[in-house]
Amino acid sequence: MKALILSGGRGTRLRPITHTGAKQLIPVANKPILFYAIEAIRDAGIKDIGIVVGDTAQEVKEAVSDGSGFGVKVTYIQQDEPLGLAHAVLISRDFLKDDEFVMYLGDNIIKSGIINLVEQFRKESPNSQILLAHVKNPNQFGVAQLVDSRVVRLEEKPATPPSDLALVGVYMFDKNIHTAVRSIKPSNRGELEITDAIQWLIDNNLKVLPHIVTGWWKDTGKVEDLLEANRMMLDTYETDIKGDIDEHSKADFKVVIEKGAVIKHSTIRGPAVIGSGARIINSYIGPFTSISSGTQVINSEIEHSIILEDCLIEDVGVKIEDSLVGRNAEVKKLNEKPKVYRLLLGDNSKVGLP
Ligand code: TTP
Repeated sequence: MKALILSGGRGTRLRPITHTGAKQLIPVANKPILFYAIEAIRDAGIKDIGIVVGDTAQEVKEAVSDGSGFGVKVTYIQQDEPLGLAHAVLISRDFLKDDEFVMYLGDNIIKSGIINLVEQFRKESPNSQILLAHVKNPNQFGVAQLVDSRVVRLEEKPATPPSDLALVGVYMFDKNIHTAVRSIKPSNRGELEITDAIQWLIDNNLKVLPHIVTGWWKDTGKVEDLLEANRMMLDTYETDIKGDIDEHSKADFKVVIEKGAVIKHSTIRGPAVIGSGARIINSYIGPFTSISSGTQVINSEIEHSIILEDCLIEDVGVKIEDSLVGRNAEVKKLNEKPKVYRLLLGDNSKVGLP
C-alpha cells in the first residue's frame, strides 16, 4: 500500500503567509502541519509516500527531504497547476501504479491518526473508503449520504444536507480511481473534483464505504482553524523545560521550552511552546501560544497565537491575541513624536487596532 499527500494548491485563504511559503509548512505547536500527515501515515505502516507539490515545491523538499528522517521513502510529484484533488491523482499514476493507496490532504490534522481506517480498508477490501465526521454545519462541507452502511451520494456544500457527515481530508482507493479521474469533467470552478470521482465509482456500482472519525480533526485552510489546531495540539503536551529560565520567571501548566530558549523576567502560562533560540524578556506568554525558534518577545504580552521564526515583538502596549505572524516580522512601538503607526504590510495583510 502507498500514500499520496497533497501539498500543492493555492492557499488563497491564508494569504499573505502563502505569498512566501507553503501553508502545509506553517507550524502547529511548533511542528509543520505536513509532518503530522507523514507521521500518521508512517504510524499506519505505510512507508512509500508520494507528495504532490506545486509552486512551493522547493520549500517542501527542503523540509522533508527523502523522508528518511521520518522512516519513510518520499517521491515528489510536480503539479504544474492546482487543477483539483482528482487532478493530483491523475498526475500521480506512474507513482501509484495499480497499488491501493491512502490520499491525505497535507493541510489536515487528524488527532487519532489513520491506523483504524487503514486496517478496516485492508480487512473489508472495498474499492474506496472515505473518512467522515459528524459536523454541526454540514452545508459548509462536502457531505455524504449513507444507505445500509454504504456511501450512495456525495454533495458539495448542499443547501439541504442529506446528513451531518462531512468529508474529512483522507480517502482510501484501489486502482479503479484512475478510471474515475480520467472519466470526470472539470467542475464550474475549473477543477477535477475528488467528490465527482468518488461519485463516479458509486454510479459504476463500485463499493465505497464510510469510516467515521470520532476524535478531533481539522482542515487548517483558514487562520481560525490553524489557531484551533494549535490549541488542540498544545493541550496534549506535558511540561518539558530544556531552555534557560531565570529565577524571576514563572512557567506553569503544559509549558514546553526548547533547548537554547531564554526566558527572563517573564511569565509563561501554558499550554504553550517556546522554540529553540527564542528570547522572552519581561513579557507574558499566555495559553495556547506557539513561539517559533529565533523569535524575540520583549516587554510584550501574547496569547492564543502562532508566531513564526525570527520575529521581533517589542514594547507592544496592548496584548496580542488570536494572531498568526509570519517569519521575520517586526511589531514594535515607535518612541517618536507625533505618535504614528508605521506599516509595511504584504498584500492581504490584516491588522486589528485597539
Ligand atoms: P484546498 O485547501 O482545498 O485548496 P488550496 O490549497 O488551493 O487553498 P485555498 O482554497 O485557500 O486557495 O486544498 C486541500 C489540500 O490539497 C491542500 O494541502 C492543497 C492540496 N492541493 C493540491 O495539492 N493540488 C490541488 O490541485 C489542490 C486544489 C489542492
